[in-house]
Amino acid sequence: MRMQWIADYKTGIEAIDEHHESIFERINEVLDALDQDAEVSTIKRLLILFESFLASHFALEEMLQEKYVYPDFSSHFDEHKQLAKNFSGLIMHLESEGASPYSNKSLKELIASWWASYMAHMNSSDKQLAEFLKNRM
Ligand SMILES: [Fe+2]
Ligand SMILES: [Fe+2]
Repeated sequence: MRMQWIADYKTGIEAIDEHHESIFERINEVLDALDQDAEVSTIKRLLILFESFLASHFALEEMLQEKYVYPDFSSHFDEHKQLAKNFSGLIMHLESEGASPYSNKSLKELIASWWASYMAHMNSSDKQLAEFLKNRM
């Protein structure tokens, strides 16, 4: 399983798009490791790297929202918080289940469902934010 980045996902704000594309690359590293039944320590390291990149990405968008006084800051912020919280739940799942072909499969399903919520955010809230920023940056 791999997540395919396409040009339609671009918001038009370069700094945000670079991060979004990198998020695809990083989730694919996690998925590749799961496909290869990598050791639990490797999978955990990749998830933690992903989590910290995600945090820095959210921080960038929040900084831009504060700087340009985005009116929907609080709902956007709440969505980031929920996505981050759900992602740390994935890491806790790995910690409690360890790694085995079976638990890798359930982790993949959890990642796929988290990813769907991330994509919904990226294609809706982030695009709205980008529309707002376009005339101001
Ligand atoms: Fe984003
Ligand atoms: Fe966002």
